[in-house]
Amino acid sequence: MGAVRADDTEVAIVGAGPAGLVLSHLLAARGIDCVVLEQRSREYVEGRVRAGVLEHPTVELLRNLGVAERLDREGLAHRGIQLAVDGVRHHIDFVELTGHSITVYGQREVVRDLIAARLTAGGEIVFEAADVMPAAIETNRPVVRFRCGDEARAVRCRIVAGCDGSHGQCAGLVEPRTVAEHAYPFAWLGVLAEAAPTQDELIYAFHERGFALYSMRSASITRLYLQVAPDEQLGAWPDDRIWNELATRLPTGDGFTLNTGPIIDRGITAMHSSVTSPMRHGNLLLAGDAAHIVPATGAKGMNLAIADVSVMADVIEQALRHGRTERLGEYSPTCLPRVWRTQQFSHRMTTMLHRFGDDPFQRELQRAELARITSSVAAATDLAEHYVGLPFARLPEVVHQ
Ligand code: FAD
Ligand code: DHB
Repeated sequence: MGAVRADDTEVAIVGAGPAGLVLSHLLAARGIDCVVLEQRSREYVEGRVRAGVLEHPTVELLRNLGVAERLDREGLAHRGIQLAVDGVRHHIDFVELTGHSITVYGQREVVRDLIAARLTAGGEIVFEAADVMPAAIETNRPVVRFRCGDEARAVRCRIVAGCDGSHGQCAGLVEPRTVAEHAYPFAWLGVLAEAAPTQDELIYAFHERGFALYSMRSASITRLYLQVAPDEQLGAWPDDRIWNELATRLPTGDGFTLNTGPIIDRGITAMHSSVTSPMRHGNLLLAGDAAHIVPATGAKGMNLAIADVSVMADVIEQALRHGRTERLGEYSPTCLPRVWRTQQFSHRMTTMLHRFGDDPFQRELQRAELARITSSVAAATDLAEHYVGLPFARLPEVVHQ
């Protein structure tokens, strides 16, 4: 291996998921230089099937960044969702309750749009960066070392943004840290099918056999999920079993029809919650799944990642453009209250809709909560406000003396 090639930038961003990529655009809009370091290939990052629902503050932010042209053309605006309780559907109308809708647009489409726009604008994203490791984060000259093939490289910077997801390295550099965690006794089997959706709203189904979710990606692609055992193996779920189980749990006796078709992607996702605090150590700031994981019910993971970096970009601007480095200390306390509100919402959606066991007392409590939401405008509005997206947190205003 030859000499280390060192580059300078203002912000080194670790990870090209929604958090890292949106941050790169927010910084560019503020005239702040950055480099994104991603361990995977561009094809891999653009191919991952993950979340699919955008909150309205997320859509607004993407529009403000000028990266929502395809989203506005191809995204599906949904005015609400349906809750199916033991086979009977109930409509929750977000537009009526909050004035806002949600947009169904796959995470991988968001990621593709962000990468294309960044590269077109001359931004730097290093794909297939191996052994990425930040150092000297307690100094004002951090460095991120990594390898590109056989070449050892290093990026010197002022700030490191840890946007490297739930399996990344950055969270481990926050010392001391507290990690609050919760595991759920089930997982989700998710499939993507070449089958036209039969309606333009998602269905969250509470059923004796367990939870099911009906979602979509486009006019020809359906996205479906089933609650399964936490240690479930994909091999135990041939296509016929998946479709039969979906037909049983979704409200097909209530006038809803389920189109079937070839399954083009499938995976099992664990369900757990965690929050790392603080979300900062020295000149390292964490965002998205690197700092917290929410259970998938309610589709908050990607939206929360983007909410974090909207605050992070302001803090970095304060530190690097206005010399207010002490304001880095405001990042974690500004983000964490919204993180916990979102965590609480995702936990509540998860505990309300899944089957936890055979306890009839617990099942009836779940039915009572669903009855409250489907019969009370106050309760439905509370769900709707959280689902469409709480306003992004903002740094406190500085009062000039
Ligand atoms: P990520 O999208 O995970 O991005 C982190 C990036 O960092 C990745 O590209 C990764 O390759 C890179 N990276 C990791 N380690 C390193 C390293 N050492 N060096 C350099 N780069 C590194 N949410 C929902 O709302 N609904 C869903 O249905 C849903 N399904 C999901 C399925 C799966 C399998 C997973 C893992 C997540 C799912 N989520 C879902 C959650 C949602 O996708 C995440 O919350 C969202 O991706 C968070 O964005 P992020 O940018 O913080 O992290
Ligand atoms: C999707 C995922 C979710 O977790 C959710 O609550 C709603 C929709 C989706 O992938 O479409």
